[in-house]
Amino acid sequence: MSTPSLRSSPEWKALAKHWQALRGTTLRQLFDADAQRGTRLVAEGAGLYLDYSKNLVNSETLKLLQKLAQARGVFARRDAMFRGDKINETEKRAVLHVALRAPRGEKIYVDGKDVVPEVHEVLDRMAAFSDKLRSGEWRGHSGKAIRNVISIGIGGSDLGPVMAYEALKHYSRRDMTFRFVSNVDPTDFVEATRDLDAEETLFVICSKTFTTLETLTNAHAARDWCLAQLGGDDSAVAKHFVAVSTNADEVRKFGIDTANMFGFWDWVGGRYSMDSAIGLSTMLAIGPEHFREMLAGFHAMDEHFRSSPAERNLPLLMGLLSIWYNDFFGAQTVAVLPYAQYLKRFPAYLQQLTMESNGKHVTLAGEHVDYPTGPIYWGEPGTNGQHSFYQLIHQGTRLIPCDFIGFMHSLNPLGGQHDLLMANLIAQTEALAFGKTPAQVRAEGTPEWLVPHRVCEGNRPTNIILAENLTPHSLGALVALYEHSVFTQGAIWHIDSFDQWGVELGKQLAKKVIPQLQDAQEPKLAHDSSTNALIRRYRVARKTPS
Ligand code: F6P
Repeated sequence: MSTPSLRSSPEWKALAKHWQALRGTTLRQLFDADAQRGTRLVAEGAGLYLDYSKNLVNSETLKLLQKLAQARGVFARRDAMFRGDKINETEKRAVLHVALRAPRGEKIYVDGKDVVPEVHEVLDRMAAFSDKLRSGEWRGHSGKAIRNVISIGIGGSDLGPVMAYEALKHYSRRDMTFRFVSNVDPTDFVEATRDLDAEETLFVICSKTFTTLETLTNAHAARDWCLAQLGGDDSAVAKHFVAVSTNADEVRKFGIDTANMFGFWDWVGGRYSMDSAIGLSTMLAIGPEHFREMLAGFHAMDEHFRSSPAERNLPLLMGLLSIWYNDFFGAQTVAVLPYAQYLKRFPAYLQQLTMESNGKHVTLAGEHVDYPTGPIYWGEPGTNGQHSFYQLIHQGTRLIPCDFIGFMHSLNPLGGQHDLLMANLIAQTEALAFGKTPAQVRAEGTPEWLVPHRVCEGNRPTNIILAENLTPHSLGALVALYEHSVFTQGAIWHIDSFDQWGVELGKQLAKKVIPQLQDAQEPKLAHDSSTNALIRRYRVARKTPS
């Protein structure tokens, strides 16, 4: 794809000029000038409400951003994605996570083949297996029912399942234990299994490639742990291990019967896979019906993204706002602040989705970009963050656009606590937008020397995303909202949001270092002096008992 330079395009130049003119304008002025702003700059879709009025934009900004989207081919690229075109150009793959939630009967073609029937075939197998396991019909090697499920995977094969399990815990089987092992640090596996009985434990090994070092190492540890408790009988593996992968050969090699394998496809990126068979542990926890509800939430947002007009299109608006702050205001990060304890892993999940996708330094044509791409996403649930890093957002020197996420009702009502939670969400966005002027500070009788310390300049932009309840449906819609916002940003930057070549270098180097740490013979080291010294230091420590 040939890429006309983004910065020299008329649409970009118009935005740059507009930014110059708007940068002195405050949110206070924008709200004073338009009494309807708080109800005008809002949009709804797939059960989510987005208030984007507390952003440093006016109608002109939004118009110009939409023109930029049009000029950069965002809509054409979106349609190409939904059509099954191979828009992951560096891996020559289609990008069809949207097919994972397409209803039965819809048709989406990859290389001339409709993939929707296969998607539903796998979903049906997952549902049948879940029903068997949850009902106790599926028995372990010694005949006991399975009560513990441990999902082993890393990156996209872990973060989605963990996040979804935590988010939807309310809907999960409370008489079963669900745990997740990802780190090659043996502590992760040991702590996850220390109090469990192998006879009642099922391992779900999740790996798209089934070659990932961490996952395979933990899977072998699981096998050893299991067999040690089950009398060393290899046939036990069939009752205690299932695999989720695109690589049947490697699954077989590991010793898992492919009858116990749930497949997916190369057109599902790891970080876009929580609604594929990678979500098997989610389905085991919440049941097939709730899982399908989650898929319906994803699908509702897909349809919204595909067909809503630009000015009411939630993912498009969020993506464009992110471009506005990242590329014009120079904001380097976005804080994601869910006011929902169940969403405690949501920021971690988003980190992979956003940063593995848009952490790219060249365009699809291989040219070095001359504009900043993917911002850093981070965050913690409110209200906890308020008592830690919010100070910097309120009064620090950096501009940090924030996404506040909240629900109208609590799944665990307790006195007026939910009101307190939501009051904090609302108040924080007000405080960030409008701050506290010197006059207001003085009017409180503050001595003059203290006034500058107590002034909050405001003008800190926020998005507020609200849903009625945290349900499988609203979670699906929320995840899809971010998926498509990431897509929008990547499309504007003309980067490949679906590859991750940068991750490979570290993997390759680790493979080289492993034998250099473990070999009995002193290895010949030809790294830099720091790496050589670290390897030698570790080798010495390794021989010394702790
Ligand atoms: O970290 C890189 C990565 O390739 C991710 O994109 C992926 O989600 C993760 O590793 C796990 O890969 P796999 O599912 O093949 O084990």
